[in-house]
Amino acid sequence: MGNTFLNLALLIIFQFSIRPTFSMKLTTILTDQSALLALKNHVYDPENVLETNWSSSTHVCNWFRVSCGSRHHRVTALNLSGLGLVGTLPPSLGNLSFLSLLSITNNSFHGRLPVQLSNLRRLKHLSFGNNSFSGEIPSWLGSLTELRSLFLNHNNLNGVIPFSLGNLSKLEIWTLSGNQLFGSIPSSIFNISSLQKMDLSNNMLSGSIPPVSRDLLSIELINFNINNLTGHLSKDMF
Ligand SMILES: *[C@@H]1O[C@H](CO)[C@@H](O)[C@H](O)[C@H]1NC(C)=O
Ligand SMILES: *[C@@H]1O[C@H](CO)[C@@H](O)[C@H](O)[C@H]1NC(C)=O
Ligand SMILES: *[C@@H]1O[C@H](CO)[C@@H](O)[C@H](O)[C@H]1NC(C)=O
Ligand SMILES: *[C@@H]1O[C@H](CO)[C@@H](O)[C@H](O)[C@H]1NC(C)=O
Ligand SMILES: *[C@@H]1O[C@H](CO)[C@@H](O)[C@H](O)[C@H]1NC(C)=O
Ligand SMILES: *[C@@H]1O[C@H](CO)[C@@H](O)[C@H](O)[C@H]1NC(C)=O
Ligand SMILES: *[C@@H]1O[C@H](CO)[C@@H](O)[C@H](O)[C@H]1NC(C)=O
Ligand SMILES: *[C@@H]1O[C@H](CO)[C@@H](O)[C@H](O)[C@H]1NC(C)=O
Repeated sequence: MGNTFLNLALLIIFQFSIRPTFSMKLTTILTDQSALLALKNHVYDPENVLETNWSSSTHVCNWFRVSCGSRHHRVTALNLSGLGLVGTLPPSLGNLSFLSLLSITNNSFHGRLPVQLSNLRRLKHLSFGNNSFSGEIPSWLGSLTELRSLFLNHNNLNGVIPFSLGNLSKLEIWTLSGNQLFGSIPSSIFNISSLQKMDLSNNMLSGSIPPVSRDLLSIELINFNINNLTGHLSKDMF
């Protein structure tokens, strides 16, 4: 009886203390690997760069255009710019929870941005420019509060600019040029005091240009060309 109780107690301790940490550690590397393999399966890869290089026989951290952190050995950067890739982004990309840089500029990705990317809370640089993404700019982008740069230029995005982007209080570079965005520019954007470059040119934005806060001290470039905006930027900021 006493023995059974001891075994039961040990079993409970094993279940609640040892097993969870053990299994978490085991899945993390594999999670990154399966997320990247899912991406590989979602794209047509004309130069066969991923086909020959992204293979389970080598460690993920040695894969082409993949970088890992030295402390956690998890994927921290994925830079697939300019590889001629055609395809969509799989939801599992949102499992790369240590990702800080994601660049797929100059490819032919299409479809919507998967909502699972909102899980990438460590993202600092997001570059989706020069692809064929469609749909609206998702409001969940406003939850990626570590973002320093956000490139969504030259896609087929439409709809209005979400107010939630004003949450990106560390944003420095922000480019939405060359889409079909309409509606007014949300005033929340002008509350981001770290902004250095903002390019909203070549859209169909309308309404008046919001009053620009004097706190926008770092701003170097604002481009509103080829829209249907009225008013002008307050001159005391320059
Ligand atoms: C994959 O690409 C990386 C980076 O270019 C290279 O160092 C590595 O040798 C390649 N591995 C294979 C198996 O081709
Ligand atoms: C991504 O890789 C390309 C090719 O190596 C390089 O030109 C580009 O600067 C890189 N982008 C980023 C954001 O590191
Ligand atoms: C990764 O993401 C996908 C889709 O969002 C999900 O189905 C899967 O369970 C996640 N976890 C792992 C460990 O792959
Ligand atoms: C987009 O990519 C194409 C093909 O690589 C290139 O010719 C074009 O200049 C790029 N445009 C921008 C805005 O980066
Ligand atoms: C995209 O392509 C254009 C034109 O080829 C080039 O000027 C630009 O630097 C490229 N952008 C990136 C991030 O590779
Ligand atoms: C982001 O902004 C929206 C609207 O401005 C707000 O409702 C929301 O709570 C904010 N989210 C975060 C994570 O700060
Ligand atoms: C801008 O920031 C100020 C101070 O934090 C806040 O009171 C105001 O509501 C913000 N305005 C917008 C449009 O987000
Ligand atoms: C631009 O705005 C004016 C006034 O709001 C409106 O009458 C006009 O139709 C708009 N033009 C376009 C191309 O949207």
